[in-house]
Amino acid sequence: MQDATVLEMRDMEKSFNGIPVLKKARFELRRGEIHALMGGNGAGKSTLMKILTGVYTRDAGTLVLDGRTLDFQTPGEAEAAGVAMIFQELSLVPTLTVAQNILLHREPRRMGGFLDDGEARRRAAEILADLGEDIDPRLPVELLSTGARQMVEIAKALSKNTRILIMDEPTSSLSEAETQSLFRIARRLRDGGISIVYISHRMSEIFTICDRVTVMRDGATVLTDACSNVGMDGLIEAMLGTGSVAALTYRERPQVPAGQRPVLEVEGLDVGDRVRGASFAVHAGEIVGLAGLMGSGRTEIAEAVFGVRPASAGTVRIDGEPVATVAEAMAAGVALVPEDRRRQGLVLEHTMHANFMLPSLKRFARGLFVRDREAAVEGEAAVRDLKIRTDGLGKVVRLLSGGNQQKVVLAKWLARHPKLLILDEPTVGVDIGAKSDIVEIVRAIADRGTAVLVISSEFEELLALSDRLVVLHDGRVVQTMERRDIASEEVLHHAVQG
Ligand SMILES: Nc1ncnc2c1ncn2[C@@H]1O[C@H](COP(=O)(O)OP(=O)(O)OP(=O)(O)O)[C@@H](O)[C@H]1O
Ligand SMILES: [Mg+2]
Repeated sequence: MQDATVLEMRDMEKSFNGIPVLKKARFELRRGEIHALMGGNGAGKSTLMKILTGVYTRDAGTLVLDGRTLDFQTPGEAEAAGVAMIFQELSLVPTLTVAQNILLHREPRRMGGFLDDGEARRRAAEILADLGEDIDPRLPVELLSTGARQMVEIAKALSKNTRILIMDEPTSSLSEAETQSLFRIARRLRDGGISIVYISHRMSEIFTICDRVTVMRDGATVLTDACSNVGMDGLIEAMLGTGSVAALTYRERPQVPAGQRPVLEVEGLDVGDRVRGASFAVHAGEIVGLAGLMGSGRTEIAEAVFGVRPASAGTVRIDGEPVATVAEAMAAGVALVPEDRRRQGLVLEHTMHANFMLPSLKRFARGLFVRDREAAVEGEAAVRDLKIRTDGLGKVVRLLSGGNQQKVVLAKWLARHPKLLILDEPTVGVDIGAKSDIVEIVRAIADRGTAVLVISSEFEELLALSDRLVVLHDGRVVQTMERRDIASEEVLHHAVQG
């Protein structure tokens, strides 16, 4: 029964505060397939999957699982029916061990009701070994890398007889090797008869790992087909309703005048054992890309420049003045858009408007009335330029879709006209339609004289944006390249591999 349908969702409707988010959406899943769920930011993907997992209840529609019409009222009911989801923000308890997390609330007990830790470890080790993962079940989860934590999430799902596994943007903070290992496991699970729903904005992944694809647009399902029948252009067209998106292309920008003093000078920077002796500079109006594999020290450099991570040696200067703390960096006009924006860049329980009001640079520390008006102007510009999908600036940020939350943080900093803007993975979680918009906006900021330092794992984006590339390997700067001297993506790949 290879092609048997395990799940059918028909005519799903959901509104929040009278605003429809799902409009007769449908989704169908077969046994033993990896099924991509695609669509622009705010299209309704996570909402549809939250109905499947019992987090939200639907307003209308039919859900048929294994031939039975069901209606999950709680996540527990969905779990009992074999549905599990790995969330964009992982749900493990950091201070508990791997084994404790995998068997949380279902701990094996000895006679008399005492916890049987030995048995828990044995069972956890068995599931992990089955996945081909070498993770010590006794370690607290907080000591694990993101990739390993995700494997623990998967092990936890499998320990519950999961037959439908939903992954919402699983690779956005995984290294290349971790991504490959996730793909290997996803294929194994599929071949064992588990059905996987795979949500991602990385288009190339879809064609690598998925069998079929469903595309949502504006809350409705617009396409379901085999990936091999769709192709990249067809997929983009279905997602955005237009045949093509602006390509991420490099545009040569004016050269820095000779002899001009850089805005940022990094000299002999050490950050623990993660960065060793890094030196480079960024000038006003220049966009410099930090290229390197995950773990090569990119984020550590960004954080040391912004003062959130102490440098163990070396200096960071802004306009010739040394800075060492966040307060000094901010006073000197440095802004950092962190990689983990949901946790570091936003107050999730506040409205969009309030998030734009948060004073960050001196310019904003003026009268409340002025700030309020500026925040409204900035907020409206952000919604327009970055196509943020919201029913108003009064919306609480937590209720925006994942990609739209990313855009809010980005917009907030882009509006600040800092002297130096540091962007760590500026387009993570953002749909393909908005990527080129973000590239254009960053260029416009540099054109106005801001010095820009950008980190990205996507070479295409790095090559589109950067005037110059600083290549890192193992915490050291191994090379600096002018963008115009780089003939192809392969050249950069090669440099980064060391
Ligand atoms: N609890 C809620 N209250 C109000 N609005 C909500 C709520 N949950 C989701 N929405 C809205 O529903 C729409 C769809 O959001 P959803 O999270 O499903 O999008 P998505 O397709 O997953 O997007 P992304 O790719 O950005 O993650 C968005 O406009 C979002 O703001
Ligand atoms: Mg989502």
